[in-house]
Amino acid sequence: MSGGFSVVVKVLPGAALGTHYHIGAVRGFTIRGQWRYLEHDWVAKPGTFMYEPAGEAQTLVITDDSPEPGLIFFAVEGCLIYLDKAVDGGFAAYEDGFTALELARKYYCEDGLDVRKLDALVR
Ligand SMILES: [Fe+2]
Repeated sequence: MSGGFSVVVKVLPGAALGTHYHIGAVRGFTIRGQWRYLEHDWVAKPGTFMYEPAGEAQTLVITDDSPEPGLIFFAVEGCLIYLDKAVDGGFAAYEDGFTALELARKYYCEDGLDVRKLDALVR
């Protein structure tokens, strides 16, 4: 087990994820919307597949002109490390399969859902 996780993120146009890097490879598939990394010129659109090797700091943004919220599937190996600033940043926080599961459990509890149904999905 790598501690990695798969996730579908939904992000509004103009919003961003904090600058971070991954300790393993990431594969992503854009379902809806347009997004990019501030560190690169390319723009991902519905149907775009991306692969990124470990180690590069990046800041994901949904473009201001995206016609809809970004909806992106990511398969993440290992954890990601959030940085406290975009350039020469230091450790701020981390996310992995275990922290994501805790967030999901918290969401289930707050919304009155049966967390046992979530835990039943974990192998
Ligand atoms: Fe990332």
